Amino acid sequence: MSVTPFPTGYQPHPQLLENRVILVTGAGQGLGKTASIAFARYGATVILLGRKTRKLESVYDEIQAQGYREPLIFPMDIEKATDEDAKAVAEGIYQQLGRLDGILHNAAHFDNLSPLEIQTSAQFARMFQVNVIAPFALTRACLPLLRQAEDASVIFTSSTCGHQASAFWGAHGISKHAVEHMAKTWSLELEQSPGLRINTVIPGPVQSPQRKKTHPGEMHEQLPGPDSLVPLYLYLMGPNSKEESGKIFSA
Ligand SMILES: NC(=O)c1ccc[n+]([C@@H]2O[C@H](COP(=O)([O-])OP(=O)(O)OC[C@H]3O[C@@H](n4cnc5c(N)ncnc54)[C@H](OP(=O)(O)O)[C@@H]3O)[C@@H](O)[C@H]2O)c1
Repeated sequence: MSVTPFPTGYQPHPQLLENRVILVTGAGQGLGKTASIAFARYGATVILLGRKTRKLESVYDEIQAQGYREPLIFPMDIEKATDEDAKAVAEGIYQQLGRLDGILHNAAHFDNLSPLEIQTSAQFARMFQVNVIAPFALTRACLPLLRQAEDASVIFTSSTCGHQASAFWGAHGISKHAVEHMAKTWSLELEQSPGLRINTVIPGPVQSPQRKKTHPGEMHEQLPGPDSLVPLYLYLMGPNSKEESGKIFSA
């Protein structure tokens, strides 16, 4: 599948996400944190999902300090999440906020770079649970809510190593490739759900705690900051992208 480059110069309307409710996984740091704050800045109520409450609370505090809409915190380790847990998330969103307009599936697991020959089935299972199965289960559980929204957006997150096979990226790269395939499959099956779109973002090299781990030899400070992805996240999450589905975008 080809990658659509996102042109620079997109100017989101200041109330782009007014009254929308958006779920972000892995919201406690890195790109998830940046995206959550940006969604709140443009008017959304953001549900911050992640496994470390302390980190989520610090994002909550930043959003509150800016005077944006009060976010919700959903502590959850998606490595342990079952279909029932995903259903509980959807029910909790419905009970507390009554609607859901978008999901940014951002959380990801990464071990280290190593040859497939030494990777284990247990490593594969963990990688697939966090990177593929949990996003699948959350999307499926939230589908009834997303269908009720006037226009709703689901964004999955891949990576260059998922788009193109690369030595030593092992289960991580393979799981990200599965993410791209899953997003495309969802988009084809949901073609008849008006306004509901499913796309994938390949962030590319961007400063983040995970990036330091995956690319230790890189000059981290010379990479673009996570803010460089905000226009793309806003475009895909807001109504300007109503007609876009089944695509892979890079910033
Ligand atoms: N940065 C890049 O250059 C780059 C390039 C390509 C793709 N990506 C993708 O972009 C996304 C964000 O990456 P990032 O660089 O911002 O990574 P990051 O700094 O490591 O952030 C990942 C987030 O996922 C959360 N997470 C991991 N396992 C989880 C679990 N079991 N349950 C709940 N949350 C979990 C982490 O929570 P904790 O805080 O609890 O660890 C963290 O908040 C990932 O999907 C990554 O693969 C990034």
